[in-house]
Amino acid sequence: MEVTVRVPATSANIGPGFDTLGIAFSLYNTFEFAQTEQGLSFSGCDEKYKNEHNLCYVAYKKVAEAADKEIGGLRISTISCDVPIARGLGSSATLIAAGAVAANAILDCGFSKYELLKICSPIEGHADNLTPAIFGGFTACMTHNEHLFSTPLHISKKLDFFALVPDFEVKTSVARSILPKAFSREDAVYNISHTAFLMQGMATGNMRFLSVAANDMLHQPYRSGLIHGYEEAKDAAKRAGAPVFFISGSGSTCICIAKKDAGKDVASRLKERFSSLPNNWKVYPLSVDENGATITKII
Ligand code: HSE
Repeated sequence: MEVTVRVPATSANIGPGFDTLGIAFSLYNTFEFAQTEQGLSFSGCDEKYKNEHNLCYVAYKKVAEAADKEIGGLRISTISCDVPIARGLGSSATLIAAGAVAANAILDCGFSKYELLKICSPIEGHADNLTPAIFGGFTACMTHNEHLFSTPLHISKKLDFFALVPDFEVKTSVARSILPKAFSREDAVYNISHTAFLMQGMATGNMRFLSVAANDMLHQPYRSGLIHGYEEAKDAAKRAGAPVFFISGSGSTCICIAKKDAGKDVASRLKERFSSLPNNWKVYPLSVDENGATITKII
């Protein structure tokens, strides 16, 4: 049996929703999984990913083990890879979601998407990228007494999203290592209040709420120093008509949001402004992906 799985890029955190909120976007990685006589083989990816640490395989194996199924021979092929790597757009989560969904189909495990999320969330240790990668849309996840919850959240159709992707990487491990281990009560309240208003702004398309509520005290003040030209990029986005600005995941990509307005070509204005900044920022106009990881072909 062979299955092809398409998985969207994701942006985690969404400002104050550190390790909690995420959105799936219309940029995709596609992988094919084929049963073979024996062994594990790869095609279409860099040599350094052709081993059992490949996250597609790690997730595939984890789901197989959870269902008590034998894996047998397997070939994993990267068909297309449009999600930039190590830029905070959930490229690792695309691999994990693809492996999970493929194993579920090929080995006939019968798990729901939520069960796949629970089985595979320990691979990265925080589920804010994996939740939207699997389900699509705007999502929240929460762990309570070691139990993982996830839920879809409402997101207005009145908003236009843009990914601003520079030419340098930020490693998630580095971006996590620079964060403080503890925060003040003021910072905790700041983030709780901003998250509430961010969610309301996303649901209604209220740009005033969103542009204020996208600020946080838990990660962006620390991580902005890892993103060369962060302040200039924020200013360029605002001047182009996209005043809501936040770091995507642990960076280096930033996301900006504009109110949908047929009369304003924010994409062109962003491209023009970012073309004059150092670091070769690319501007990707995005729409919200509503489907998450999807099997596009079964043979
Ligand atoms: N919530 C995670 C972080 C996302 O910001 O570190 C990156 O994987």
